[in-house]
Amino acid sequence: MSQPLHERLQPYPTEKLQALAAQTPLRTSLPPISFSWGEPQHATPHLVVQALAEHAGGIGRYPKVAGSDALREAIAAWIARRHGVAGLDPAREIVPVNGAKDALFSLAQVVLRANRPRHGAPVVLVSNPGYQVYEGAALLAGAEPYYLDIDPAQGLAAAFDAVPAHIWPRVRLAYLCSPDNPSGHVYALPDWEHALALAERHGFHIVSDECYSELYFDEGAPPLGVLAAAQALGRDRQRILAVASLSKRSNAPGLRSGFVAGDADVLERLRLYRSYCGGVLSPAVQGASIAAWQDEAHVEENRRLYREKFAFAIPLLQQVARLQQPQAGFFAWLDIRASGLDDVAFTRELLAEQNVAVVPGTFLARTVNGRNPGAGHVRIALVAAAEECAQGVERLVAFARAWQPAAA
Ligand SMILES: Cc1ncc(COP(=O)(O)O)c(C=O)c1O
Repeated sequence: MSQPLHERLQPYPTEKLQALAAQTPLRTSLPPISFSWGEPQHATPHLVVQALAEHAGGIGRYPKVAGSDALREAIAAWIARRHGVAGLDPAREIVPVNGAKDALFSLAQVVLRANRPRHGAPVVLVSNPGYQVYEGAALLAGAEPYYLDIDPAQGLAAAFDAVPAHIWPRVRLAYLCSPDNPSGHVYALPDWEHALALAERHGFHIVSDECYSELYFDEGAPPLGVLAAAQALGRDRQRILAVASLSKRSNAPGLRSGFVAGDADVLERLRLYRSYCGGVLSPAVQGASIAAWQDEAHVEENRRLYREKFAFAIPLLQQVARLQQPQAGFFAWLDIRASGLDDVAFTRELLAEQNVAVVPGTFLARTVNGRNPGAGHVRIALVAAAEECAQGVERLVAFARAWQPAAA
């Protein structure tokens, strides 16, 4: 705790990877292929771009922090259609935000300031490996991150069970990511039941990061979100905050548009907080967002493109690494320990030999009690066009084959 805050904030994995790449001379003239960042590369739908242009005139006015009625109503209607949760009050239970990142950060600031533990700093549960903003948001709100080592095979309950008893009275917030980055795992109703019961018992809030919720592979099984889980369990929305985004769903990461839905008291404080920090969506962005939330055809097409890429990639990757078909998202999480290389060496050598960039698992996770749960894994984002993804996968497989310990 005595370490200055700026030293506790780690560089983004992007920067760590850039530093690694800068020290890695290429031994190939092959063109670069990037599997490293979760930036969607499929085309932004025309209807979104068109609506953005149509609403450009709106920039002559200051937009409301709460967003337009039309946008909040479009979001409420989407939640009712997609999650079967009707009756959300668009004025009190929905706040449009500048992408999921904005919401994830801001929610920590408002939740943790209003609900301090009696003794010690508040604790925020963050998934490990996980999205780095959870950790940074906790630190910048004066809280301590507690890293949850979540093994999808064991379920969420096992990860919670490992939290020591003396930590629980200080827990004030839990970030849960479903579908998960990087594993693609989706929490089922018993996971949510366990999490919601703990939140009630210990008085903490749950922020459910659902920014990958629309990129699922089984059209018959869309991921269960926290709002629908609460409804199925007969619970109200107190302490529950669902975060969604258009970045991945609608291939519009530059639009900076998403929403938080749930606990009306927290959202009231969030609107107040945002009226100071300037978190507001431009009227043009709001118009484009309405068009995006009202259309599902482009999202179905988006899923089809990912399904095709994963159908090709997974069986090939399974020849050289241990991995499962994710339930959702656009990441594959490869256990590359059989290669005989650690994840950083694997990343470096793959880059040098094949000019393919992936992310070492240890860059996405923290070492706790001498163990980094990202070790021995690399994350690949199948975001590029199908042809480029296919080439990248083939190069990765060729590289890993050459590095099998038996061949060394
Ligand atoms: C788990 C997770 N949450 C949130 C975000 C941020 O998404 P947005 O573009 O909506 O801010 C990302 C982006 O990569 C992510 O991987």
